[in-house]
Amino acid sequence: MPILMCPPTHFGVVYEINPWMHVASPVDPRRAADQWEALRASYRDLGVEVVVADPVPGLPDMVFTANAGVTWGGRMVLSRFRHAERQGEEVHWRGLFAARGMPVLDTEGIPFEGAGDALFVGDTLVCGHGFRTDRSAIPLVARALGVDVVELELVDSRYYHLDTCFCPLDAGTILFAPSAFSPDSRERVRRLARRVIEVPDHIAAGFACNAMPVGDVVVSSEAVAGLSGQLREAGYRALGLPMGEFMKAGGGVRCLSLPVPATWGRPAPT
Ligand code: ARG
Repeated sequence: MPILMCPPTHFGVVYEINPWMHVASPVDPRRAADQWEALRASYRDLGVEVVVADPVPGLPDMVFTANAGVTWGGRMVLSRFRHAERQGEEVHWRGLFAARGMPVLDTEGIPFEGAGDALFVGDTLVCGHGFRTDRSAIPLVARALGVDVVELELVDSRYYHLDTCFCPLDAGTILFAPSAFSPDSRERVRRLARRVIEVPDHIAAGFACNAMPVGDVVVSSEAVAGLSGQLREAGYRALGLPMGEFMKAGGGVRCLSLPVPATWGRPAPT
């Protein structure tokens, strides 16, 4: 599947909408560009097509394409951002997906933050709520995509999006940080897959769960090194990349990456 990325041309920490963001510790634009390019290069080396969205001045978090929306079966449900600071992105994401001929659905104004809070385990949609996505948006998203859904409650504001603490590697393998979930939801995750790798807080806080599986490689931040033994046992190899500049905004590899339908890739050479 191709991955949508948006270059960090206008990226920065200019407001604070999650506990990682401090306007007093600014982003180094050069280093951010290097980290973003290294992620793009890793995808290319792994044979993944990267589709690049146009960055827009004044929308510094647009680099986090995971929050554009969620796609499934050729449809997309657009995000409705909780914070006014990001709502200006919506019109651009809608335009991009509509231009690709995808039906764009929405949650009728109810906060929902796309693939940041909506990940698939096999054919089942798993949605996080508690900080960004409103619980009442979840049935609307599931209905729009025509899928079964499992809801998980997030309780630690450092893990304000599901993708910061939960990552399906395949239909039978999940990475997750138990401390980010309510006790009920923690148990629910443990029943979701055959192999559930529990990530301790000190590793999860380095954005290790904010990962993208590509075949048998788990692309993530450098903190993923702490999981390499368990990943190896599960048949995966960890690829850790420096993500420090994006972590200042509360994001890592997965936040910078949105899987899009195969038809978005370049046509195969004839
Ligand atoms: N600064 C962004 C925000 O708070 C970071 C988004 C990270 N994205 C993600 N999918 N977890 O909205």
